[in-house]
Amino acid sequence: MRLDVVTIFPEYLAPLNVSLVGKAAARGQLDVRIHDLRSWTHDRHNTVDDTPYGGGPGMVMKPEPWGEALDEIIASGDGDAPVIVVPTPSGRPFTQELAVELSAKPWLVFTPARYEGIDRRVIEEYADRCDLREVSVGDYVLAGGEAPVLVMVEAIARLLPGVLGNAASHQDDSFAPGPMANLLEGPVYTKPPEWRGRGIPEVLLSGHHGKIARWRRDEAFRRTTANRPELIEGADPAAYDKKDREI
Ligand code: ADE
Repeated sequence: MRLDVVTIFPEYLAPLNVSLVGKAAARGQLDVRIHDLRSWTHDRHNTVDDTPYGGGPGMVMKPEPWGEALDEIIASGDGDAPVIVVPTPSGRPFTQELAVELSAKPWLVFTPARYEGIDRRVIEEYADRCDLREVSVGDYVLAGGEAPVLVMVEAIARLLPGVLGNAASHQDDSFAPGPMANLLEGPVYTKPPEWRGRGIPEVLLSGHHGKIARWRRDEAFRRTTANRPELIEGADPAAYDKKDREI
């Protein structure tokens, strides 16, 4: 998968060289290219923003550098347009489902903005030419889209074939499709069997796979009910068994 990021803070994306994403890039599973938006400006001050039409606080990112940057990046491909992901608090929510969908695309271009966002005409222009998604990582406003890019790239990269050590590990993620869909993951334990007087649930030592699976599902239910009751509301009751309803 090829990933391009256009930003006025290239150094903010340095974590993409680290850990899971960095290793995937080093192995050639990801081709990550970070671009400085200011290299597509032509004035002495490398201006990327200006005051908003209609007045109001803050600044808006000018269309010209974004247009030149995106044209050049798109032209560098093999002819197929990338999916353009525009992080914005006004976008559709970034979900595990969207991460799965984007992980199947060969080429993503992220356009993290600063200030009040990018001139709308840029979004319209590239929505006409590419598959463009405006995406929010949560109901809060950050200072820019770089942190959301780090979040999205990590969620997407770990789904790529061969990136996670254990291929099964993302199958039982919270939010993953399957028998635990809509349930948060329950608690986990490792050695030692006793720590500061605290033991671990007996069933995990039983070696009884059926009972362990049953316990995990019960714990997932308990945690989801406590932390995210709306997920239970949205779940399909046909997927529950009798014991679930007794919790
Ligand atoms: N930029 C600023 N806040 C954001 C958010 N919540 N999601 C995506 N991009 C953003």
